[in-house]
Amino acid sequence: MAQEDVFKKIVSHCKEYGFVFQSSEIYDGLSAVYDYGQMGVELKNNIKKYWWDSMVLLNDNVVGIDSAIFMHPTIWKASGHVDAFNDPLIDNKDSKKRYRADVLIEDYLAKIDEKIDKEVEKAAKRFGDSFDEAMFRETNPRVLENKAKRDEVHTRFAKALNDSNLEELRNIIVDCEIVDPISGTRNWTEVRQFNLMFATEMGSTADGAMKVYLRPETAQGIFVNFLNVQKTGRMKIPFGIAQIGKAFRNEIVARQFIFRMREFEQMEMQFFVRPGEELEWFAKWKDVRMKWHKALGFGDKKYRFHDHDKLAHYANAATDIEFEMPFGFKEVEGIHSRTDFDLGSHEQYSGKKLQYFDPELNKSYTPYVIETSIGVDRMFLSTVSAAYTEETLENGETRVVLKLPAPLAPIKLGVFPLVKKDGLPEKAREVIDSLKFDFKCQYDEKDSIGKRYRRSDAIGTPYCVTVDHQTLEDNTVTIRYRDTMEQERVAIDKLAEIIGDKVSMKGLLKSL
Ligand code: GAP
Repeated sequence: MAQEDVFKKIVSHCKEYGFVFQSSEIYDGLSAVYDYGQMGVELKNNIKKYWWDSMVLLNDNVVGIDSAIFMHPTIWKASGHVDAFNDPLIDNKDSKKRYRADVLIEDYLAKIDEKIDKEVEKAAKRFGDSFDEAMFRETNPRVLENKAKRDEVHTRFAKALNDSNLEELRNIIVDCEIVDPISGTRNWTEVRQFNLMFATEMGSTADGAMKVYLRPETAQGIFVNFLNVQKTGRMKIPFGIAQIGKAFRNEIVARQFIFRMREFEQMEMQFFVRPGEELEWFAKWKDVRMKWHKALGFGDKKYRFHDHDKLAHYANAATDIEFEMPFGFKEVEGIHSRTDFDLGSHEQYSGKKLQYFDPELNKSYTPYVIETSIGVDRMFLSTVSAAYTEETLENGETRVVLKLPAPLAPIKLGVFPLVKKDGLPEKAREVIDSLKFDFKCQYDEKDSIGKRYRRSDAIGTPYCVTVDHQTLEDNTVTIRYRDTMEQERVAIDKLAEIIGDKVSMKGLLKSL
């Protein structure tokens, strides 16, 4: 199936099973804003718990905060967002659609990479075990030709970004003959910069209203509380502050479902270190964060690092963790070495010292910062995309199953009375009552057991049990495993033991 079709199916699956709804749908929706439904919110909360616990529970030098969305407007001046939080945009005059110029070029480069990979794949099949991939990449004329083209465009692109050269970005688009995917034409406007922050007013006009912004990242709430936390928590460097919260960006090109939203959620951690030690910590956090992703078991090949060509004004090293979405490898998390830029700038704008006295060095300094920043919604999308599976069963039927890691699944156990009578519903409720303090159970008595299994598969429930007449006699149930569809008879009082460990966050965290 084409990846585009898979993506469409995932989007409609998310709606059909109560994961994600378009915001304000009955008013025809609000573009790039989404609501999470009854299943979505559980999955999202589990993702957040996995992240939060991996930061705050597992590291005694990382603590959390929850700062306000509204902040003093000068913060955004100090952070550079007022002046430099822009996207380079280009319009196609025929389709009247607007695109990010950098994304058009990145997609073009990714297509060349795909061509090279396909060439290698074909050759690997042709030559079998004797295939020497490194040699093939170094000598095959078609691979070399594509690589040379890629490198040339890439070098121009990196330079144009670094120089903020909008004209050159347009030249690259024209020279590479990049067409608008909708109109198919190359009728492009100039490239212009757009600021992404939403602004509103605080206070009544009579009092003199103040222009405030909806925060475009949660990180600044951490920076401006650096000393509050350090002093009240008696934190010693190196230490981290973690936060989960909403962020807002007026994304002009908002596409791909919850991948690029105007209101989204971030999980960010700023790790404060001694100046000069930041690159060591950067390497360490890269490793830690990649392990966190891979521990979910979707396969190591789904992840890769993408080191930045253009470093943000505040960074001296930066990488993205990319995940293979149905529409290609895309950024899910950014890891940045932000130097002392933010604390230094807030010191300058606020006139307050934001320094740390290091008792071991017997001196004060502005700490350097390593940031890990991951979007909850992108993590949600990558998780659902990786978990979404269509299987053809032996009887020819198709089964749609979300193979979610059990600790992330919205419902851990489905409990079904075989029939709606003879005391079976009551017995099923009894099973739920005995387990509901440990994990989320769902009662379902509608339709055949087969249909109930299918519904549970579709929302990723890893275990289901059926309560039947034998249960009333010997307190056993049939447990059915989502991924293998195998069934076995087990005692009710063994359920917590069989399921408990597998669905608990503890097991996942222990694997880190
Ligand atoms: N504090 C650093 C920062 O905000 P970023 O790369 O702009 O860095 C971090 O954003 C993460 O936030 C991204 O990797 C992505 O997962 C998520 N994110 C950013 N913009 C988003 C959007 N419009 N919709 C959904 N997620 C977004």
